[in-house]
Amino acid sequence: MNTVLGQRISMPVCVGATAMQRMAHPDGEMATARATRAAGTGMMLSSWATSTIEEVRSSAGDGLLWMQLYIYKDRDLTLSLVRRAEEAGYKAIFVTVDTPYLGKRRDDVRNRFKLPPHLKMTNFGSAELAFSSAEGYGEDSGLAVYVAQAIDPTLCWEHIAWLKKNTHLPVVVKGVLRAEDALEALIHGVDGILVSNHGARQLDGVPATLDVLSGVVSAVAGRCEVYLDGGVRRGTDVLKALALGATAVFLGRPVLWGLACQGEQGVSDVLELMRDELHLAMALAGCCSLAEVNRSLVRRPEFTSRI
Ligand SMILES: Cc1cc2nc3c(=O)[nH]c(=O)nc-3n(C[C@H](O)[C@H](O)[C@H](O)COP(=O)(O)O)c2cc1C
Repeated sequence: MNTVLGQRISMPVCVGATAMQRMAHPDGEMATARATRAAGTGMMLSSWATSTIEEVRSSAGDGLLWMQLYIYKDRDLTLSLVRRAEEAGYKAIFVTVDTPYLGKRRDDVRNRFKLPPHLKMTNFGSAELAFSSAEGYGEDSGLAVYVAQAIDPTLCWEHIAWLKKNTHLPVVVKGVLRAEDALEALIHGVDGILVSNHGARQLDGVPATLDVLSGVVSAVAGRCEVYLDGGVRRGTDVLKALALGATAVFLGRPVLWGLACQGEQGVSDVLELMRDELHLAMALAGCCSLAEVNRSLVRRPEFTSRI
């Protein structure tokens, strides 16, 4: 049986947090929520969604939802998102720890990125926090200015302990890449660790998540669940991550591509493709069940000098 934090999922492939989904399709996060529920898996909603926490809950029906959280300078505002997620029946908080500053996204700077005028980050009341001001971003990426103004750049382990104290929901840290940080996360009471490099959109030169997964899994030694996102495009990618110890994987961009092409149906197609490909990869690797998937399936070629 596949589970994430005790909640059943129909396959170990879940939908990750991607912001502003109405830029991809008018139905945005609500279409993604419907498709994810139909697939019987879970969806992580971005704090920066263009649909509210409550709208996404009503679209998802009794589907499995988790809330992705950024830590704002304003702690009360941060906790108000947590409370709304709790009240709407979200099952965990995934706190993103790799974005105390926004990475240098050169295309966004060149394009002076901001939301189109008919969209906003609907979970927030004021125009500034909803990222819907037309002006004030100067020559920079609007999102970089937004993060500098609103997100807490002093993010540290104490914030995780604070969050744990202030919610009854399980807390997962999203954005861990090193065994040392995984151990710190455990010391601060996390319930899960998502090995993620934010789709390599934050810092040039970060390792591929698949390459660091084993180190994190060994350090954690079964004390909490470990998940992976980043570059999962095929069933074989899922199989490799599971073989190296991930409980489940999360999809970022593939879901947005499906959403942009065909809304809810496009997201359904992406999820069913991943399910079919995972089954095929398992069958061809000789595995009848997920319990048979283990690290013996993955071989890493050693570098051999030819000199
Ligand atoms: C367009 C876009 C928006 C994203 N928005 C968020 C976000 O709001 N919060 C967050 O924690 N991660 C965000 N991410 C990162 C994803 O959650 C995830 O870590 C990454 O996309 C996974 O890699 P993949 O896209 O290769 O599957 C975003 C990624 C993309 C591509």
